[in-house]
Amino acid sequence: MRLGIAADHGGFELKEQLVEELREMGHEVVDFGAREYDPKDDYPDYVVPLAQAVARGEVERGVAICGSGVGASVAANKVPGVRAALIHEVFSAHQGVEDDDMNVICLGGRVTCYALAWDLVQTFLKARFKEGERFLRRLDKVARLEKIEEQDW
Ligand code: RB5
Repeated sequence: MRLGIAADHGGFELKEQLVEELREMGHEVVDFGAREYDPKDDYPDYVVPLAQAVARGEVERGVAICGSGVGASVAANKVPGVRAALIHEVFSAHQGVEDDDMNVICLGGRVTCYALAWDLVQTFLKARFKEGERFLRRLDKVARLEKIEEQDW
């Protein structure tokens, strides 16, 4: 799969490990930075370009990492077309894709150890959206928020 990955200083080390392993597995990984560890960098500078690439279809899925994963998920979800979630356990890593068409997984580099992060990313990448009527109906209601004014809801 062609996928994107991004992290600030809080997720930098985890990103580097994941990029190496994912490439070894044969995935095409587009690295949106940070390119080096900078304790003063800001997660939106890396996560937003990744999220935009996912929304434009330039990469199929994204992995966004910051210290907790919270900032990464907040930033990624501001980009229309992105469905990002902070994931800590395997059930949500696949169910988030199967039912909710999650296209960006967010991880906390200071929270989730490498071994679990690897399992979560593997699970996320293998999962497929079920495309059932009820899932599409719910996603359509969510997607409406990207198109309408607040007072129309
Ligand atoms: C950066 O120190 C940290 O605040 C950031 O990586 C992230 O955890 C924000 O949600």
